Amino acid sequence: MLQSRHTQETQEPQTRTGRGDAGFATTSLHQGYAPNQHIDASAVPIYATAAYDLWNTDRGYRVANGKEPGAHLYSRAANPTTDVLESRLAALDGGVAAVAFGSGMGALSSALLNLADHGGRIVTTRDLYGGTFDLLSDLLPAFGVGVDYVDKLDDAAELASAIGHDTRAVFAETVSNPTNRIVDLDTVSSVAHGKGVAVIVDNTLPTPYLYRPIEHGADVVVYSTTKSINGHGTAVGGAVVDAGNLDYGPANAVEGHPRFPQFNEPQHTLRDEDGNALTFAQAAGSKAFSQRLRGKYLRLLGAAPGPFESFLTIQGLETLEVRLDREVASTERIAAWLESHDHVVRVNYAGLPSHPDHALADRDFPRGVGTVLSFDLEGSQEQLDAFIDATTVFTYLTNIGDAKSLIVNPSRTTHREFDPGHQRSIGVTPTTVRLSIGLEEADDLIADLERGFAAAYGD
Ligand SMILES: Cc1ncc(COP(=O)(O)O)c(C=O)c1O
Repeated sequence: MLQSRHTQETQEPQTRTGRGDAGFATTSLHQGYAPNQHIDASAVPIYATAAYDLWNTDRGYRVANGKEPGAHLYSRAANPTTDVLESRLAALDGGVAAVAFGSGMGALSSALLNLADHGGRIVTTRDLYGGTFDLLSDLLPAFGVGVDYVDKLDDAAELASAIGHDTRAVFAETVSNPTNRIVDLDTVSSVAHGKGVAVIVDNTLPTPYLYRPIEHGADVVVYSTTKSINGHGTAVGGAVVDAGNLDYGPANAVEGHPRFPQFNEPQHTLRDEDGNALTFAQAAGSKAFSQRLRGKYLRLLGAAPGPFESFLTIQGLETLEVRLDREVASTERIAAWLESHDHVVRVNYAGLPSHPDHALADRDFPRGVGTVLSFDLEGSQEQLDAFIDATTVFTYLTNIGDAKSLIVNPSRTTHREFDPGHQRSIGVTPTTVRLSIGLEEADDLIADLERGFAAAYGD
């Protein structure tokens, strides 16, 4: 005989720990998951279901209208496996909520549109991941979103002069890919917030272990979880964390009009007890951003993560701290070794004193700046090709953040969206090599790079 399908409802959740004051690793391992709510399964189960039994019509009405806490309706909008990932990422960053997506680009495009739809503008720089630059320079304008570029976002005067009536957000990568430029987010936030504008960052390279952007004023934090958070190159994914601090309501106004009109329009789907339509700002308060992101962009553009991908990402997240400690130590050693090499013109790693943002790295990144570095070889593109083709431990591919070390030539792959002049202006040359350092012994990685030098220069 089948057991009652509703017995779990009566049990109090018993999450072992992971809330509030727990450490990073403990939160990565336990937050948001109570085994006794999942037939005592110790590992987070993969809920491979598209939809959920509503029990009866009365409860079905409540679930469909978001009035049944913890209940699920349809996996495009929420799934119990993905819920755990979202809960952990929100806790690790100190946000009020997180929304997971099927890719980092799904997360980024949805978050930017959620801030700037209805004719808004975004201020940013040109020193960005190639896909993000293509999104901002080409695709978002086609959706009616304007983009304004500045050279240095943390030049307070330059940023202030770029913010206009329609500006909704300032966007930055906390550590840029591949040149390791770091933004002074405290300065950016104080200028943006002085004008009621949101600060949104891509924190993919450092992850919340190395840098917590909300502590420096970010309102929205975006990840490609495909990188270090997954850490094994097994799933494409993304996530957006909502800090819950910015006022998206009518009090945040420009010349008498709300700065974020999209959060202040009554919604047919949001109603109070008397049936009156509410705005996202009214209905969701400090979670207005994430609730609209889920209710409009995840649900309607539909870039939802699958539960298996969320499971793989949770597996990776559980070991993020120990992986990064070892990988950062190797990266620092390899960066210093490369810098002393005769055939290397320049190393871009903010952990090195020679990097223009080293002082900022020292101030804001006490655990190191990450596992990605780039360097310029002397000589020709043919020598770069010989260098890369001779390596055997590094895998040649366009990803970062794996347990395995990775090598790539950005100018012809990850940053091919940029014309040569733009590439040069952000520090990418035809002989730039990007490395993502994994968990192999650093000695083996150095020996592999020696093979590259021997093939390129014959010494
Ligand atoms: C910094 C950064 N942000 C976002 C993305 C996009 O993420 P995804 O590939 O998961 O869509 C990437 C991917 O390379 C990236 O490097």
